[in-house]
Amino acid sequence: MVKPFLDVLHGIRHEPPPIWLMRQAGRYLPEYRRSRQQAGGFLDLCYTPEFAVEVTLQPIKRYGFDAAILFSDILVVPDGLGQDVSFVEGVGPVLVPVRNASEAATLSMSFFEEMLAPIYEAVSQISNRLDDETALIGFAGAPWTVACYMVEGGASRDFNAVKSFAYGDPNGFSQLIDLLVEATICHLSAQVASGADALQIFESHAGVLPSVEFEKWVINPIRQIVEGVRSRWPDIPIIGFPRGAGAMYPAFAVETEVTAVSLDTSVPIHWAIQNLPAGMPVQGNIDPLFLLTGGVEMDRAIDEILEACRTRAHIFNLGHGVDKNTSPDAVSRLVSKVRN
Ligand code: CP3
Repeated sequence: MVKPFLDVLHGIRHEPPPIWLMRQAGRYLPEYRRSRQQAGGFLDLCYTPEFAVEVTLQPIKRYGFDAAILFSDILVVPDGLGQDVSFVEGVGPVLVPVRNASEAATLSMSFFEEMLAPIYEAVSQISNRLDDETALIGFAGAPWTVACYMVEGGASRDFNAVKSFAYGDPNGFSQLIDLLVEATICHLSAQVASGADALQIFESHAGVLPSVEFEKWVINPIRQIVEGVRSRWPDIPIIGFPRGAGAMYPAFAVETEVTAVSLDTSVPIHWAIQNLPAGMPVQGNIDPLFLLTGGVEMDRAIDEILEACRTRAHIFNLGHGVDKNTSPDAVSRLVSKVRN
């Protein structure tokens, strides 16, 4: 049983590299849009194993990716902690915000595992249905990124509310981060127990913090999560994705003790190969927007990445998620270009 994706995470190069795409299941696929309509709301999709399994497998059936990623969302964690979370068509996630320590203190782990149980059931069914060569990735958001949504009440441009909380009351904010660390360890460990072969931690808003706060709110909590999960599952590969971390990527890679890092679109691939620990596998990092235009510019960008990673254990991926306006044919073209 050989899973090229897992080999690479153990430092063994494959040529061509294994490939999967962040947001590979999503609105650019007509079959996803159909399932989404049948399920009703986005969270119904996440919490109904039948739908979550089907949607997870859709891009595997279409493209034969080397890894499936559980279909879910990073915001099921605040939902499980008792915060009111909804997904509004055309708007995105909307949460009843927790703006300070006393509001955050209303959240707890009391119903967490019970509420998220359908997700673990989906992981187990997906794991049973994948062939021997395809890996299953479990995931969670990192505490800082999840806290951004929890405190802002949704997406944000300036991160005013979450920074006001973190900078104005660091002790209170650290209680929220500690709760998220505990919940995330629990959530990731349950996915491994149910059959996930590897994990990815999404720190989508890593890029908005100064370096001292980056150490405090990005690196430290993720290191605690890596330690907590590994105390139960010592061999589980963990990919960290600190989007926008820029010059902090090497410190992130070393100090969090993740197995591999996923590079965002803005990281020069040659710089990454020179500055990340020798032997650490890397994932990434073509700009997903190349998939909107395709053509020779996309081909050039693919070649540049493949060339730079000739001596590195490398997983081909995007620098961020597939855009919803991507044509499914452009994804076929990307996959066949990487594989041939
Ligand atoms: O990658 C995959 O295919 C697995 C599923 C997955 C989703 N969200 C499904 C989803 C994963 C790994 C995520 C992670 C996620 N969710 C992140 C981290 C990665 C990143 O994109 O930075 C974040 C920040 C979220 C929070 C979130 N969920 C937002 C901001 C939105 C709205 C944005 C949008 O595209 O509408 C979502 C909704 C969401 N999560 C969709 C999907 C497929 C779109 C929902 C729909 O309308 O059907």
